[in-house]
Amino acid sequence: MIIPKLKSALAFGGDYNPEQWPESVWQEDMRLMRDVGVNLLTLGVFSWSKLQLDENRFDFGWLDRVMDLLAANEIFVDLATATASPPPWLSHRYPDVLAVDANGAPFYPGSRQHYSPSSPTYRAMALELVCRLADRYKNHPALAAWHINNEYGNHVAECHSEASTKAFRLWLQRRYPSLNELNDAWATTFWSQRYSSWEEILTPRRTPTFANPAQSLDFKRFTSDSLLALFLAERTVLRTATPLIPVTTNFMGFFKPVDAQAWAREMDFVSWDSYPDPADCCSAALLNAATHDLTRSLKRDRPFLLMEQSVSSVTWKSVNVAKHPGLMRLWSWQALARGADGVMFFQWRASRAGAEKFLGGMLPHVPPERSRTFAEIKALGHELRSLSAISGTLVKSQIAIVFDWAAWWAIEADSKPAPIEYANWAQEIHSSLTALNLTADFVGPGENLDRYSLVIVPCLYLLTPSTAANLSRFVENGGHLLATFFSGIVNEHEQVELGGYPALLRRVLGLMVEEWFPISHDSSQALLFFGQNQVLSCKRWSESLQLEGAESIATYQHAPLFGRPAITVNAHGKGQAYYLSTQLEGDGLTSLLSQINRAAKVRGILSPTEGVETVLREGSGERFLFLLNHNETPVTLTAETLHGVDLVTNAAVHGSIVLPPLGAQVIRLRMLADPTQQTI
Ligand code: GAL
Repeated sequence: MIIPKLKSALAFGGDYNPEQWPESVWQEDMRLMRDVGVNLLTLGVFSWSKLQLDENRFDFGWLDRVMDLLAANEIFVDLATATASPPPWLSHRYPDVLAVDANGAPFYPGSRQHYSPSSPTYRAMALELVCRLADRYKNHPALAAWHINNEYGNHVAECHSEASTKAFRLWLQRRYPSLNELNDAWATTFWSQRYSSWEEILTPRRTPTFANPAQSLDFKRFTSDSLLALFLAERTVLRTATPLIPVTTNFMGFFKPVDAQAWAREMDFVSWDSYPDPADCCSAALLNAATHDLTRSLKRDRPFLLMEQSVSSVTWKSVNVAKHPGLMRLWSWQALARGADGVMFFQWRASRAGAEKFLGGMLPHVPPERSRTFAEIKALGHELRSLSAISGTLVKSQIAIVFDWAAWWAIEADSKPAPIEYANWAQEIHSSLTALNLTADFVGPGENLDRYSLVIVPCLYLLTPSTAANLSRFVENGGHLLATFFSGIVNEHEQVELGGYPALLRRVLGLMVEEWFPISHDSSQALLFFGQNQVLSCKRWSESLQLEGAESIATYQHAPLFGRPAITVNAHGKGQAYYLSTQLEGDGLTSLLSQINRAAKVRGILSPTEGVETVLREGSGERFLFLLNHNETPVTLTAETLHGVDLVTNAAVHGSIVLPPLGAQVIRLRMLADPTQQTI
C-alpha cells in the first residue's frame, strides 16, 4: 500500500486545479468525480500565487473549502506544496530567484518553473509556504500524500546564476579536499585551464569550443544534487509535521538532469508522468513499457503511481495526435501491469484558458454525456474497482539492465568518437526483451545483483572499480553478463582507464578492445552470427577486439574488420560474460538475447505473440497475469497453463483467451497443487 489511506483501492484521479474556476463549478466537479470513481486528486500544483498574494499576505480560505469539500465526498488529496512556480511578485522584489541560462540570460516569469534552485531567497520563501501548508492541513482528513514541487528540472534543467555559481563552488569544496585535487580530477593542465583560486571556477557557461568534460560532468552531478536538496528541505518540513503521510514527487522517466536512483531513496513512493506520442503507437508502447520498468525498479519493494498521463492528446508538439478509442485504457492497463497501483491524469477538468487549454482533461470542454473520452474515463474508473486485488503485488524480473545517470551524462557529453544515445540503446535492449515477453529491472551500477540470472550492461562508458568488482563477482558466482561496446572507458572524472580498454573488465570479458571504428549514421553493416548461422545487421559502432580467452560467436563482415570477432563469450568463474562490440538492430538483437536467455535459463511468461505484451504481478500467494493486445486486430492466445479467472468479469479461463483489438485483460492464475509447475 503506497498510500495507506486508500487501503487496497487503486488510485484513480488527476491534477485538480479548482482555483481556475468559480466555486459554483466545484459542486459539479464533486458530482462527476463521484460518478466516475475518482478517489485521489493532486491539488494545488500551480497555486502559489493564489495562496500567497504578497510577501506577507496569505489566503488559504479557498483551499480550506476545497479540502473540506473533497473530504465530504470521500476523495483523498495528494497535496502539492505549490513551490514549482513562484508568483510574479517574488521575482519582481527579489530578482535573484530567477534561473539563468549558460549565456547569462535570466528566465523571466510569465510561464512556469523559472526559479533558480540555488537561490537562498527562493528556498526560504518556498519553505515558508510549505511550513504553513503542513501546519494547516496536517490533521485534515482528506490529506493522503504530499506532492513536492512538480517535475523537478523540467524546462530549466541547469542554472548559471550567481547563486548557482557560488553553490557549485561550495559543492566542489565538499567533493575535493583541495584545489590541487580538483585541478588533477579536471585535468586542467589540458588547454591551460589550471585554477589558482576557488573564485575563478564558474559553472560551464558559453565557451568557444568544448568545455572541460570533468567540469561539465561535475556540474550535472551538482545540478541533480541541488534540486534534490530542495526536495529534501521540503520533505523535512513535511515529515516532521506528518510522519505518517507518504511523500513523493513526479519523475519524468528517462529524464537526464535528475538522477532518479539517488532521489528515489529519499521518497516514500515513486511516481511518474507518462506522455508517449500516439502518433506512433508501437514505439510509444515500447517506450512506455521501458519507462514503467525504470520507474518501478527505483523502489523494487513497492508499487509506483502513474501520476500523470493525458486522456487523449497533449499540446506541446506541432501536431498533437489524439489517442484512438481504447488506447487510453490500454496504456492505463499497461502501467498497472508493470507495477503501478493507480492511474492518474493531467488533469481533472480541462482548463478554459492558459497555455494548456487544448490538452483535454478527464472532464472535457464538451458536455460529458456527449463525450467519447469521458465515457472511457468513466468505464476505466469503474473497472479499476474490480482490480483492487492486484494492489501491493509486484513485478519480479530475472533480468537486470544496469542503468547509471553518471555514465549517461558522461557518454553523451561532447567530443566522443561518435555520438552514442545511451538511454535509447538501453530502451532498445528493453524493447527486445519485451518482444520476448520478458520484463527487466533497471538497476544502479552498485546494486546487489544476486537475484538476477542475466545482467545486461549497455555502454557503461564511465565505470568505477567498485562497479567493475560488482559485475565480476556476479559472473564468478554463476551469473550471465552481457556488456556492450564502449564500456569501462573512463573513471568518475572522465579520465581514461589505461592499460587497454575496458581495463577493469578485461579479465571478466576475456578480451581487450584495441580500436574503435564508428559506423556513419546513415549506414548499417553486417555480422555473421555462428549459433544461428544468421546474418545480423548492426549500426553506429564497431571495434577491433583482441581475444584473451573469450570465444568469438559472431564476426564482422565489413572492412577493415572483416572476419574479426564482433560478439564474444568468456567463461569466468561459474558464469559467462558476453561482449557485444557493436549496436545490433531489431531482430539481430532479439536473436542474440534469445540465445543468452537460453544459456541463462531465463524464461518468458508465455511464448511471444507479435504485438501482445504479457506481464506477471505477484504477491501474497497470488499471481496476476496481464495480457495486453497492442494490435488493431483480435488475438487468440493458447497455453496449457493459462488457467484462472478473469479479474474483471469473473469468467473462467481454460487454456485459451481471445483479446479484442487494443484489449487488456488480467487473469488471476489458478495456483497448481505442485508448486514446481507454477511457471508457465
Ligand atoms: C506535465 C506537467 C503538468 C502539465 C502536463 C501536461 O509535464 O507536470 O503540469 O503541464 O505536463 O502538459
